[in-house]
Amino acid sequence: MGEIITFANKKGGSGKTSAVLNIGAAAGSRGKRILLIDLDPQAHLSYWSGVNTYDTYPNIYGAVLGDYPVSEALFKPAHGLYDIIPASTGFSHHDLRKLLDGSNVEAKLTKCLFNIRDKYDYILIDTPPTVAVLTLNALVASRFVLIPVLLNFLAIEGLAQLAQNIYRINMAHNPDLRIAGIIPNQHDIRSNHAKKVMKELYENFGEDMVTPRIRSDVKIAEAPEARLPINLYAPTSRGAMDFSILTDYILSKVEEEAGVKK
Ligand SMILES: Nc1ncnc2c1ncn2[C@@H]1O[C@H](COP(=O)(O)OP(=O)(O)OP(=O)(O)O)[C@@H](O)[C@H]1O
Ligand SMILES: [Mg+2]
Repeated sequence: MGEIITFANKKGGSGKTSAVLNIGAAAGSRGKRILLIDLDPQAHLSYWSGVNTYDTYPNIYGAVLGDYPVSEALFKPAHGLYDIIPASTGFSHHDLRKLLDGSNVEAKLTKCLFNIRDKYDYILIDTPPTVAVLTLNALVASRFVLIPVLLNFLAIEGLAQLAQNIYRINMAHNPDLRIAGIIPNQHDIRSNHAKKVMKELYENFGEDMVTPRIRSDVKIAEAPEARLPINLYAPTSRGAMDFSILTDYILSKVEEEAGVKK
């Protein structure tokens, strides 16, 4: 059964979408069966994957709300490195009210994924910086959470609170959930400030909890326009190299902790 990994941080622009897409594509190129789920109504992950986000199409919200089976919402990008269940920019207040209706609202995504989980090795979920109930659903469905952070003090200031929220969800809804790591993003190796923030992360969370870093690379920001992951858009770039190292690290850590056979 596929291990579900959520990428979360309610600080906007920390690198959640870039991490989900590029780690998903790198893991797919290593032969893993990968499903990405876009839970963010901004639908950036969907757009980047080649979905025409200006049209209407079956999406994760319709699947969770029971309008159609989740398999109908599967989209397969031409590059074939992963499948994706897209979000929709049409997610409305009406949809939110329906999502919050009834009992066990936090477990609706878990239920929705039940029948497709065993078709994949890993399911990676991109979450929005807003709409807490969507992120809660992702965390309740997941075994692991990864937290991308930018390397400045304001960006890491809310991390302890985020870790506490995850612990609360762990106690109340999902005893399996654990933080697999904090991903330092947009690392500028020449910056003294970034070095200080890295030191702070190591001291507060322990070296084991901090993954290999992703350096700043404009190729990562350019890739969505080409609708390609970094490993296809710029295979020899810094960004592709960093995501390759990070993907190997995450796969081996998660496989070890979840007891997945290689
Ligand atoms: N390592 C990097 N180097 C250069 N640009 C980056 C890097 N990581 C992310 N970016 C750029 O920073 C912006 C924010 O990244 P991204 O969209 O992945 O963050 P996010 O956490 O998903 O944001 P949101 O909270 O709005 O969903 C994007 O324009 C992205 O292209
Ligand atoms: Mg995003």
